[in-house]
Amino acid sequence: MGIIYNETYRTWTLHTRNTSYQMKAGNLDYLLHLYYGPSICDPDMSYQIRQYDRGFSGNPYESRNERTFSLDAQPQEFSTQQQGDFRVSSIEVVNGDGSHVFHGKTTDHQIQKGKYRLDTLPSVFAGKDDTADTLQITLTDQISKVQVLLLYSVFEEADIITRAVKVVNQGDQPVHIKKIMSVCLDFLNGARMDLVSLPGRYGQERQVERQPMTHHIHTIGSVRGFSSHQQNPFVILCDREATEDHGDCYGFSLMYSGNFLAEAELDQYDQLRLVMGISPKQFFYQLNPGEMFEGPEVVMAFSEHGFTGLSHLYHDFYRTNLCESKYVQKVQRPVLINSWEAAFMDFDDVKLVEIAKAAQKMGVDLLVMDDGWFGKRDDDNSSLGDWVVNQDKIRCGLDRLVEQINDLGMKFGIWFEPEMVSEDSDLYRAHPEWAMEIPGRKGVRSRNQLALDMSRKEVQDYLIKSINQILDNANIFYVKWDINRSLADIWSNALPAGQQGEVCHRYILGLYRVMDGIIKTHPDILFEGCSGGGGRYDPGMLHYYPQYWVSDNNHPIDRLKLHYGTSFVYPVSTMGAHISDSGRLVPLKTKAVVAMCGTFGYELDATHLTKEEQALCREQSDLFRKYYPLIIKGDYYRLTNPFETGNMTAWAHVSKDKKEALLSVIVTNLTCNGPQEYIRMKGLLPNAFYTVNGKEELYSGSALMHAGLPIEREVPEYTAFQFHIQRRD
Ligand code: DGJ
Repeated sequence: MGIIYNETYRTWTLHTRNTSYQMKAGNLDYLLHLYYGPSICDPDMSYQIRQYDRGFSGNPYESRNERTFSLDAQPQEFSTQQQGDFRVSSIEVVNGDGSHVFHGKTTDHQIQKGKYRLDTLPSVFAGKDDTADTLQITLTDQISKVQVLLLYSVFEEADIITRAVKVVNQGDQPVHIKKIMSVCLDFLNGARMDLVSLPGRYGQERQVERQPMTHHIHTIGSVRGFSSHQQNPFVILCDREATEDHGDCYGFSLMYSGNFLAEAELDQYDQLRLVMGISPKQFFYQLNPGEMFEGPEVVMAFSEHGFTGLSHLYHDFYRTNLCESKYVQKVQRPVLINSWEAAFMDFDDVKLVEIAKAAQKMGVDLLVMDDGWFGKRDDDNSSLGDWVVNQDKIRCGLDRLVEQINDLGMKFGIWFEPEMVSEDSDLYRAHPEWAMEIPGRKGVRSRNQLALDMSRKEVQDYLIKSINQILDNANIFYVKWDINRSLADIWSNALPAGQQGEVCHRYILGLYRVMDGIIKTHPDILFEGCSGGGGRYDPGMLHYYPQYWVSDNNHPIDRLKLHYGTSFVYPVSTMGAHISDSGRLVPLKTKAVVAMCGTFGYELDATHLTKEEQALCREQSDLFRKYYPLIIKGDYYRLTNPFETGNMTAWAHVSKDKKEALLSVIVTNLTCNGPQEYIRMKGLLPNAFYTVNGKEELYSGSALMHAGLPIEREVPEYTAFQFHIQRRD
């Protein structure tokens, strides 16, 4: 059992293979956080907390004249509201009597086998071989009768702890939740810690930033209605000395696709607090007597082995415990070609068949018909919401088009943007009240489209029905699910004025319900997520989609950074990566090597390629298929940092048994007559011998990892190398 309750000390200790996490019902039943880090066997770490009379810090009333117990200076498991702790709070409520207060004291706990469930939100699951246990601790405010249930599931072998929070109104008056964080983690000594996050923008998602903790509140988050291009719901707190391979790193990955917030506060005593959950902006949730509110899950991991150690924990866990799609475990993903950059919206059935015929020669398995096939859509002014085939473009009918593609031995995929509506659409004309627009005001336009009010059940039902109708009436193998604007004009015509603060969260709940109704009812379809590139690349979405489009930016050299940043938490098996016309100076072979750091495909007009180019593409598609198990199932190593100036970017995929590896190197820049460059491998067995690219010479794992492989330097810029490293027994 990964959870131990010690009655003498009133401590709970959660143990994974390499970590421990401890908390205690301490003075006056306040729940204190004691420890998270490498495994310990100490039953009570509370000796770490020293209590002093801290000037101007408040003491709970029950402490009477005892001035040394202040919540402002204690590590809390869930920082509460108006209890004399002035640091960032985990909860803010407005009670029925108008008071803004939550005094939560430990009143109950339960330990159970298995993983807890969330009824309204996606969450990770326990596989049949996982040892997962759950702890629930109840904090109760005895006056308002509001309860907070803190949920923990411990995945022992995976070294993962998940947390979630539920709020229950046990009182007899409605309560409003203004802020509810899913995780709160206090560190007694946080002065030498850094915060790593993945900020970005359209076309440049998930770049990596590291900032030292200073004495203020550092915030990371999104208020764009979705997790966004600009920030990702993932942060790392690490030692200032932590590097790619060494040092303590704590990861926090929020399983939510809407507005989120992470706050890291270094306090007056150099204690560090991190909270993370739904953003309080545009959030004010009414909880009636007897009702329960669920906050999203946070997946936490700790590694002493730097960023690589932490990434590997997330990669392994997210590859097995996040998405139920059968494609996650398949040994092949189809090599696809997408029509977007080939034709944008200017295509018809004949053009698609031509592309497919050319793509067949490139070893492509799947043709994806992107935006432009429905309603009267010829540009981005119209038709979103009208999920019916445009007969002027697909003259032969969708089922016949799919048959023609299938006859070429290829599968067929289709694009949707379910959450949006164009003003010029039959749907909007029939139901203008389904669009998000604030009555009496002109709304914000973005790509000329409006967002549907996904909080409305009728909207959800309409989408489930109309999209399923398309999916059920043709042999569709793949769906690309896109969203191309942020939410503004937050409003629902279906909710009363006092509940408009619920719209953003209800939108996300509605979206998940639609995804359940379409994705989970089509287990044979491969779904890929997309958001104007990689704007909603988060674990909430990856619960549904085994793969996600990394970015609309296909430039292979930019992609090096995009893949590097994304890989901090998300496995390579989730990364949609294609070869396109972008980067005209970069050889096709190099584009292919870069796209092999992902699910591999093409985003170009295949009919324009020469015979030689088509043949080269076929070679690359076959190579991807050959290396697929290594790429998708192996351990991924970042060998260089493309954000630092250097001449080469390199990464490697190493099989779990360390018998095989694929080392990829891109020459991004070469100084004239410069020094010899070496790339040092990682993850091999030091005492084993390996061959490289099938040649006779043997190299020890140790030599490959410490001396490195010399990389030929008299080569044109943007040359790519792939080294297939195999163990010789
Ligand atoms: C944005 C996506 O990122 C593109 O790949 C493409 O699908 C367009 N939307 C279509 O509108």
